[in-house]
Amino acid sequence: MSSHFHSLSVKELKRETAKTVSIGFEIPENLTSEFRYEAGQYLTLKATINGEEVRRSYSISSYGDEALQVSCKMIDGGKMSTYLVNELGVGDKVEVMPPMGNFTLKSTDQPLVLFAAGSGVTPIFSILKKSLKEGNNSIKLFYGNRNEDEVIFKAALEQLKAEYSDRLLVQQFLSSNGERLDADRVQSLVAGLPESNYFVCGPEGMIAAVKDGLEKSNIAAGNINIEYFASPKAEKKAVETVISGEVNEIIAELDGERHNITLKPGESILDAANRIGIDPPFSCQSGVCTTCRCKVLSGEVEMENNFGLGEDEVEEGYRLSCISKPTSAGVVISWDED
Ligand code: FES
Repeated sequence: MSSHFHSLSVKELKRETAKTVSIGFEIPENLTSEFRYEAGQYLTLKATINGEEVRRSYSISSYGDEALQVSCKMIDGGKMSTYLVNELGVGDKVEVMPPMGNFTLKSTDQPLVLFAAGSGVTPIFSILKKSLKEGNNSIKLFYGNRNEDEVIFKAALEQLKAEYSDRLLVQQFLSSNGERLDADRVQSLVAGLPESNYFVCGPEGMIAAVKDGLEKSNIAAGNINIEYFASPKAEKKAVETVISGEVNEIIAELDGERHNITLKPGESILDAANRIGIDPPFSCQSGVCTTCRCKVLSGEVEMENNFGLGEDEVEEGYRLSCISKPTSAGVVISWDED
């Protein structure tokens, strides 16, 4: 089943910092099961801003019985984030796609080590609350920011620290004080810890440094969960552009209907589908958010890179259609497979 947008009312707006707002949504009775979510997932929002349709994904920061909420930090020149932070009001309607994403906590049995920087704390905060509420494990949050004023969820974290002082450690790193989460620091933070589950989310440079530090500490890759908000630039591989007419011709399923699509040279499967107006789900268009995930039912399809799907998903035949191209004849893909 593919995902569609629903018009949701803004129930609550909470200013977290000068540039960050949390947006709580009202979920009508008939959509409660569609909007059930896992800690660490995200919502894709759609709005028309100055006549242009804009889609962006934002991580969910709520958990449990809290109202479904995402948190959004305004970025310079960001159309959607500027609109959400500066213009959105309580009672306004926003087009929202049901929750997606696999940056989720599978078990609360193991100790948990969380690395966050800036707005990367959003999914981490939801995962942290889940683990505190449902587990007995010890939790460490290493949280980097430029300065004190930019610390998102500051008061809420203080409260959780007081409430769960026996299980939760929160350590802040402020670059204004010369404190950084670099690889050496990460190695010293995790030295001697028991086998743990690691979650990492933040800007690209921070993720690279934490990943490096964890790898140098011999943390098993299977215990490291990473969420990218943007596609790391360096690692894009060019997929051979389509060379023959047969390879160009694919069949795509959406909402139970089959469509014949002819890709133009250089086009991704998603681009071609949008060009002919069949409107599959998508958001970032850069291989990060996984909203455009499809399953290859036959033939070969290759991605330019992969920062969104797990290895198991790729093995099962899932691909991100925004960065995928067919590389054999007879390709059939589906956006309807969960
Ligand atoms: S649209 Fe975000 S991964 Fe394809």
